[in-house]
Amino acid sequence: MNKLRTITKADLTRIKGIVSEYSQQKWAMIPLLQKIQDEFGYIPPQSIPLVARGLGLFPSQVQGVISFYTQLYTQPRGRKVVRVCRGTACHVRGGKTILKLVKQHLDIDEGETTPDLEYTLETVACIGVCALAPNLVVGDHVHGHMNPKKVDQLFRNQEG
Ligand code: FES
Repeated sequence: MNKLRTITKADLTRIKGIVSEYSQQKWAMIPLLQKIQDEFGYIPPQSIPLVARGLGLFPSQVQGVISFYTQLYTQPRGRKVVRVCRGTACHVRGGKTILKLVKQHLDIDEGETTPDLEYTLETVACIGVCALAPNLVVGDHVHGHMNPKKVDQLFRNQEG
């Protein structure tokens, strides 16, 4: 479902330029990856060997760091991140159904992004407002006491 934007020669030149700012500075891998992510909205997989070469590391070492840090992404992210709570309080009050409905509305699975790059869908263990269960968050906004009608209102325009 995810549609990766094609990385152009100009993009690769830009990535090489960023990498060259950190040449052989192994300690700077995180800020370097963050800078690439800031530029593209994610870390294009094509940048991994360039980063590895620039820092004098193996690509697997760079991939390992990206996999470890949940704030680093190798897939494009949506403009809005939807987080559906899977915590116990939300689960017993219908959170599973809410997640299923959100998936249907956006036509994506967890961890995926809509083709128009509008939404990325994630789940979280608990967002700390269990009294409002079941909950979901869109961007920074918590939507409590969710039900099928509210899900429909939130995402109605995504269908079609
Ligand atoms: S379990 Fe969902 S907010 Fe706590």
